[in-house]
Amino acid sequence: MLLKSLPPQFNVARIDWDLEHSKKHHCYEDFFKNRKAPEIPDSFFKKQSLWLEIGAGTGQFFETLARLHPEKNLVAIERDRMRGKRLARRTLESGLKNFLGIRGNAISAAMTGLPAETLERIYILYPCPWPKNSQRKHRWHFHPTMPKLVQALEPEGLLILASDQKFYVEEAHYVWKERFGLEVLKFGEVSAHPLNSLSFFPEGRTKFERSFLSSGQPCYELIVRKSKV
Ligand SMILES: C[S@@+](CC[C@H](N)C(=O)[O-])C[C@H]1O[C@@H](n2cnc3c(N)ncnc32)[C@H](O)[C@@H]1O
Repeated sequence: MLLKSLPPQFNVARIDWDLEHSKKHHCYEDFFKNRKAPEIPDSFFKKQSLWLEIGAGTGQFFETLARLHPEKNLVAIERDRMRGKRLARRTLESGLKNFLGIRGNAISAAMTGLPAETLERIYILYPCPWPKNSQRKHRWHFHPTMPKLVQALEPEGLLILASDQKFYVEEAHYVWKERFGLEVLKFGEVSAHPLNSLSFFPEGRTKFERSFLSSGQPCYELIVRKSKV
């Protein structure tokens, strides 16, 4: 008989244990000190508010969003070699001054290159769910880089997450609300909302979202806001 593994379940006791025993980000910081990190030019931090997309694929969502919001600067980072190359090429081909696609690791960017309180929004759309128990430390909400990302948000800055994995969004909801003190603005199945731009992308914002929605797979989202002070 073939045993199909069940998707991970949201489990508060385990999350609390994980957070208690997870590596602290300052230990992790040393590791990145002398490593090459994707560089966001200073000009992107000036004049206009900055939105960052982590794991952007080939960057089609952020390119379109940059056209819709010329008053914002948008930076998309993608680690995968092929997708990252396509993303960087997209920047050149777009001719946009407010859009930059970078092939690189968002973790090293966050650990070394993101000044505090400089990002108005961070998007993490359809991250790898790392479903195995042994891989859970890689999920963004448990990752040692998470405090740095929250630190990089401006007061009232937003974190926007979407996933086809319910457990992932439920875990992030618990961690971001209870541990990081972020205010929950939206939590549940993906649906149009003034802060998620879905109304401009009725078939889905990204490649993964389009593929899940077109096959009838439910998708979940979480939008949280950092406090004013
Ligand atoms: C499941 S794909 C989703 C891509 C896109 N967001 C979408 O919805 O179509 C997750 C992407 O995150 C990228 N990624 C994972 N960890 C990353 C990191 N540390 N820095 C940059 N990109 C990362 C992967 O290479 C992959 O392309």
